[in-house]
Amino acid sequence: MKKIDLAKYKIVKNKLPVHIAIIMDGNGRWAKEKKLPRIEGHREGIESVRDIVESCGEIGIKYLTLYTFSEENWSRPIMEVKEIISLLYEQLDTELDGLNQNNVKVQFIGRIHKLPGKVKKRIERMVTTTQKNTGLCLTFAISYSGRAEIIDAVNKIIDLRIKKVNEKGFKKYLYTHTLPDPDLLIRTSGEQRVSNFLLYQIAYTEIVFTSILWPDFRTNELLQSIYEYQQRERRFGGR
Ligand code: IPE
Ligand code: IPE
Ligand code: MG
Repeated sequence: MKKIDLAKYKIVKNKLPVHIAIIMDGNGRWAKEKKLPRIEGHREGIESVRDIVESCGEIGIKYLTLYTFSEENWSRPIMEVKEIISLLYEQLDTELDGLNQNNVKVQFIGRIHKLPGKVKKRIERMVTTTQKNTGLCLTFAISYSGRAEIIDAVNKIIDLRIKKVNEKGFKKYLYTHTLPDPDLLIRTSGEQRVSNFLLYQIAYTEIVFTSILWPDFRTNELLQSIYEYQQRERRFGGR
């Protein structure tokens, strides 16, 4: 337990975002700044993931969704892709017990079938081991594309010969059907774009862009982003 003092950050406990989504960007630049190979940026980024997951659990965030690897990231040089996948493979093993002990329920969204078989096995193990947990619901988006998700949903609907859907009905076919829409989307590293993440779900999400690179984004930066979120007035088109 870290003993996070929300009052110190002027955060109102009963107005916390229910669902936080994060585009974890800037690992490569973090490494470059330090004259290290890019993989070291990804490795340090894992420390941020651990820290943010723990903090979200502790302050009582219900859903955290992390953009870990996009469908488009497959187009990176093969060596980097291999390194990222093998880091993932390693973490799926080393983090399992800790996540389970912290009552975290883990799930994965994206075109997971494209991953190597041994990675998929560990993913299945993590999902089954943690599925009954009742704390933070942690979703990793891997081989994820928001457009692919929408297209996959449409094709499922066509396959089922469904003639018409409304918004509620459509949602059932998205990868995120069990999650509420994100209240807060954070993107690190100074880029101000959504890069194909949760396109359908972020219709009314508050977006916080920060120039901090992902490996430097820790509890302190998370709490600052939540503070910024709480300063916004959400209107959902009303008045
Ligand atoms: C984010 O960091 C991690 C992944 C996309 C897998 P990047 O690797 O995109 O880092 P930058 O954007 O090049 O700094
Ligand atoms: C978005 O970051 C994907 C993830 C963080 C997993 P990218 O680095 O791939 O996005 P672009 O290329 O800057 O838009
Ligand atoms: Mg990037």
